[in-house]
Order: sequence, then structure tokens, then C-alpha cells
Amino acid sequence: MAWRSDVEILTQHLTVPFDYPVVFDTDILNPANPALADAVDRLREGRCHRLLAVTEAGLLRSWPDLGTRLAAYVLRHADRLELVGDLEVLPAGEAAKQGWDGAFQVMRWIQARNLDRQSVVLALGGGGLLDAAGLAAALVHRGLRLVRVPTTVLAQNDVGVGVKNGIDLDGVKNLIGVFAPPFAVLVDHDFLATLPDREWRGGAAEAFKVALLKDAAFFDFLCREAGAVRRRDAEVMRHLVRRCAELHLEHIRTGGDPFEMGSERPLDFGHWSAHQLEMLSQHAVRHGEAVAIGIALDTTYAAQAGWVTPAVRDALLRGLTECGLAIWHPLLETRGAAGPLLILDGLKRFREHLGGCLTLTFPDGVGRRREEHAMDPVAIAASAAFLRNWQTKK
Ligand SMILES: NC(=O)c1ccc[n+]([C@@H]2O[C@H](COP(=O)([O-])OP(=O)(O)OC[C@H]3O[C@@H](n4cnc5c(N)ncnc54)[C@H](O)[C@@H]3O)[C@@H](O)[C@H]2O)c1
Ligand SMILES: [Zn+2]
Repeated sequence: MAWRSDVEILTQHLTVPFDYPVVFDTDILNPANPALADAVDRLREGRCHRLLAVTEAGLLRSWPDLGTRLAAYVLRHADRLELVGDLEVLPAGEAAKQGWDGAFQVMRWIQARNLDRQSVVLALGGGGLLDAAGLAAALVHRGLRLVRVPTTVLAQNDVGVGVKNGIDLDGVKNLIGVFAPPFAVLVDHDFLATLPDREWRGGAAEAFKVALLKDAAFFDFLCREAGAVRRRDAEVMRHLVRRCAELHLEHIRTGGDPFEMGSERPLDFGHWSAHQLEMLSQHAVRHGEAVAIGIALDTTYAAQAGWVTPAVRDALLRGLTECGLAIWHPLLETRGAAGPLLILDGLKRFREHLGGCLTLTFPDGVGRRREEHAMDPVAIAASAAFLRNWQTKK
């Protein structure tokens, strides 16, 4: 609709460029390795940068000397880095981002140390910690510099390299959040060595997600190397993380909607049911595990609709299973008192989250995608039943 012809309008147009390096390296806390100092000092401002370091209890259990190593690193680079206080610690995993507590805590630490907008929040941890610390860093003074050091597979290949930050509120995943690109990201493969198997495998689900939509060769690689993922082959994982991160970065950079103003969310393929499974299970099903089930469900649905062949569906189900991931969970088929599947609430939430018209991404062959605006509940139930049979006959 056109504006009224006699109305006075001043048109404002802004474009704000964002650049951030994503550095893939190892041994980043070795004082002899300048990568971390170079990342913090990437604008070469000729000054010393004040740093608040934040981590979470799970990472610290596996890396008890993280604080002392960081202090030694900063000491060695004292001309460029200054640590303001000890390494601070939030609760492990999802607990860091459940409710405001974790993010508030980080905001108070920032304030207590008198950090300014050009100071740095250095966040080391999994997706839960990065999401909460990123939100805090984006809010105080309307945004401090955030340097992320993601330490899980999923954080390295997805959360850590993207532009979203957020927390869960009142049990709703990612209800509160902001788009705020980081200042720099350092991906250190060494951190993955201490990951529990569940976290190691779970992160692979996001790689299958993006490969199936965007990169047929990568999809083949994942299907071929699924057993190696399960056996914790470091080289296979290094490639998985690197390519998956690259595809996420490419999508954010070239997809035309980095801050998700429109209704399309290709990177959220399979996530409408995944988020619902996480919530229904009260996070007993972890994000990566839920994504594996979510993409299995939507690919089975796509096969029923004829958008992918049964062979592609089977390749995905086999690949995920060989990685050690489940493709079905009883909550997929649990019904509420009124009769409908509980996961269908996920579609409602997804629509609310997007605004406007529900838009869901499905694979269209391998390496291509299509958008749909509705799903048939009967076909969803049939897909869930198919997955149950597939999983139980294995
Ligand atoms: N912002 C985004 O764009 C985005 C994208 C995808 C997912 N997410 C969010 O990310 C979260 C999931 O992230 P996650 O899978 O990293 O889980 P997580 O942060 O819950 O970490 C998983 C577990 O691994 C532990 N851990 C972390 N690093 C470790 C290490 N090196 N060694 C041993 N243990 C370690 C943690 O303590 C935790 O117990 C979810 O909340 C999800 O919603 C956000
Ligand atoms: Zn995800």
C-alpha cells in the first residue's frame, strides 16, 4: 500500500558492516601462541585491552587449570591484554541460560569491574554459556566486545560462529535474545578431547542438518565417516567442525537476512520439533540429540511428500544412527489429554517466534532446500511411527 500523498516522510537508511574473524587453531592458551592476543587486538589499536573472562562449571571440571593458564597467557601478553579479576564461572551447560540469573551475573561482573564498551568479554564454554554471556555482553552499555572460545562440537560448528545470543525464559527456549555479532571467535580443536561422548556425537547433528540442505559432498562425507565420528576420530571431527562452521558463516553472510527479519530460517531445519523435545524432556534430550531427531522427522516427512527419495532418507537415518545418535524418542509420539501430539505445539511456537507466516525448511534432494508453510499432522504422526519402527528394528 502506498503512503498518503500529502504525508511528510524523511527516509532513513542505514547499513552497518560487521566483520569478525573465526580462527581455527590448537593450543590457544599456550603463551607462545599469539592467536588469542591477536584476535583481541585485531584492530591494532596500540593499547592494552581489558578482559573479563567467563566460563562454566562443566568445562572447568575438565580443565581445572583454565584460570591459571589464562592468567599466565595474559601475563605473557601484558603489553596488549589485562585480565580484570579471576576467571568467573556460571553453572554448566543449559543451566547457564535458564532464566535471567546467568546473564545478570555476567552483567554485574562487567559493571563491578568498570568495563567500558571497548573492553572485552572473553567467553569460554559450550553453547549455553556462549548464549548467556553473549546476551549480557550485548546489553551492558548497549554492547561490549565479545570474544568467543567455543568448547563443544556444537558450539564450534554452530553457536559460536553465528550472530545470535539468548536465554530461555519460563521454560521457553531462546525466548529472550539479541542479534549481536562477536568481535572474534577462536575455535580450538583441543578442547573437544575432554567432551563426553554424548556431546561429541550430538554436535554432529548440526553438520548433517546443514549438509543435507546445502552441500551434497559434505553430506556424503558425513554418511561415509559416521562410524569414525562415533569412534572419536579427531581428523574427521576437525573437518566436520570446520565445514559445518563454514556453511553456517556462508549462510549468514550471503543468505540475505543475517538478522532474520523475514520468515525463512533454513538453519532451523528440524528445529521446530527439536526445541519442543528439549522442553518436553526438560533438557534430558540435549540440543544436538534433539536436532538429530528433528531432522530425521522432517526428512522422513519430506520423503513421504516426494521431496527426497527414500534412499536419501535412509542415508540420513543410517548416518545419524552410525554416529551413535537416536532418531526417535517416545516424546515424539506422546499425546496430550485432548489427543494431539505434544510436539505439534512446537509448530505453534515456531510460528510465534518467526512472526508472520509459518515457514519451514525441508531438503529438496541433497544439497538443495525448499520452503513450506504448513505441515500435515497425520503425516507427522506417520513419520514419527516410521522412525520408531526404524529405530526398534535396528
Ligand atoms: N545462538 C545460536 O545461534 C545457537 C545455535 C545452536 C544452538 N544454540 C544453543 O546452544 C545450546 C547447546 O550448546 P552445547 O551443545 O554446546 O551444550 P552446552 O553448552 O549445554 O554444553 C554441553 C555440556 O558440555 C560441557 N562442556 C563444555 N565444553 C566442554 C569440554 N571442552 N569438555 C568437557 N565438557 C564440556 C558443559 O559443561 C555441558 O555440560 C542450546 O542451548 C542451544 O539452544 C544456540
Ligand atoms: Zn541447533
